[in-house]
Amino acid sequence: MSRLFYLETFGCQMNVVDSERIVDLLQELGYCQVETPETADLILLNTCSVRAKAERKVYGHLGRFKPLKDARPDLILGVGGCVAQQEGEKMLAQVPYLDLVFGTHNIHALPELVLNAEQKRQRGAATELLDRETRLRLFPQRSSGESVTRFVTVMQGCDNFCSYCIVPHVRGREVSRPSGEILTEIRSLAEQGVREVTLLGQNVNSYGLKEDGERSFAALLGEVQKVDGIERIRFTTSHPKDLSNELIDCFSHLDKLCHHLHLPVQCGSDRILEAMNRGYTAKEYLAKVGRLREACPDIRLTTDIIVGFPGEGEDEFRQTLDLVGEVGYADAFTFLYSARPGTAAAELPDTVDAEDKQHRFERLVELQTANNEATWAADVGSAYEVLVEGESRQGDGQLFGRTTWNRIVNFSGPASLVGRTVAVKITRNFRNSQLGELA
Ligand code: 5AD
Ligand code: SF4
Repeated sequence: MSRLFYLETFGCQMNVVDSERIVDLLQELGYCQVETPETADLILLNTCSVRAKAERKVYGHLGRFKPLKDARPDLILGVGGCVAQQEGEKMLAQVPYLDLVFGTHNIHALPELVLNAEQKRQRGAATELLDRETRLRLFPQRSSGESVTRFVTVMQGCDNFCSYCIVPHVRGREVSRPSGEILTEIRSLAEQGVREVTLLGQNVNSYGLKEDGERSFAALLGEVQKVDGIERIRFTTSHPKDLSNELIDCFSHLDKLCHHLHLPVQCGSDRILEAMNRGYTAKEYLAKVGRLREACPDIRLTTDIIVGFPGEGEDEFRQTLDLVGEVGYADAFTFLYSARPGTAAAELPDTVDAEDKQHRFERLVELQTANNEATWAADVGSAYEVLVEGESRQGDGQLFGRTTWNRIVNFSGPASLVGRTVAVKITRNFRNSQLGELA
């Protein structure tokens, strides 16, 4: 009988992709994935440290599995991802029933760690950040494409050091994967039925800039456009300072590029943007938004915003509200600032009163909720192209797919439509999805 593993993934898309790789590696070892931890022989947490108190939460999560481990001492328990990277080997000392720890550059080491735990009852940690050549060599090549949409990692790491952000500390320096390899992977995915690819990286806009003779990100998109079988292209995440005119123009001349861009602004005050080390002013950001809308009038923008960065005053917060009002985002992820140990901003005195911070957060959410409603409710009554991704989890004969703007649409239809693009009339709007019917 094959051994069973249970994997929980926290955080960003980068982690989702890392988890796919973890699943591939464990399957090669003969493990099968299960949906609940109770029967598993191996339990793994793929962690994220972007949010507040992430480390403490991971230790809390691990505690949930202690009774299972007490009942079945053979059970293997492991932690990977950004918290593992940050905490390193000391996790093994802190949690006596933890068997293995693997960092963000060490997913390839997982099979060995698992085998050591399985066969020798050996506990182990692999959390060193690797040099550039090794990382390029180990860049995950994922060529199995059983789904309609796939993420393709084009770069890893980040060199931007936004003052609040832990990512450069736990994911290491920026490395771009050779474009030839990326295109080979996308061609292979297309042959296997993948119709949409999302090019993924911490800041895809700076793709290739630091590699001699490499294509620009815009040029890479141009090549992806030429791949037969691929119908839609998306990319994430973009740093506004690196959003070039060449890239903006892609939205007007690449017909496969979807009309959605996630463009994190973080804040609307120039003083705070500078303290965040973002490298642009509100005016420069708005100018890029203007150019995007010229290139692609129906483009929809989403963003990330941090409320209560150290030193943020009421006036500065209002500038954020003004900017959010002016751009009219289709959606926004809003965060309460929290100091991440090891980052530059963690050294700044946290001057914003907790109650004020919470109140500002609610005001921002209220404004953005109205923006959301205005954007998505306006779709009701019209038909749009939807790439059908699969059958709904509910198993009620419903299909789901997305419009060009990245919004999930659920509608009734035969399973034979999966992988095809169909016109769907939007009939109802919900907070995070829409309901429709085949038009
Ligand atoms: N506090 C609050 N939000 C943060 N983010 C990153 N670091 C922090 C922090 N220390 C948010 C940013 C980023 C998103 C992924 O998480 O908005 O774009
Ligand atoms: Fe973090 Fe800034 Fe890099 Fe994004 S660009 S991962 S916010 S440091």
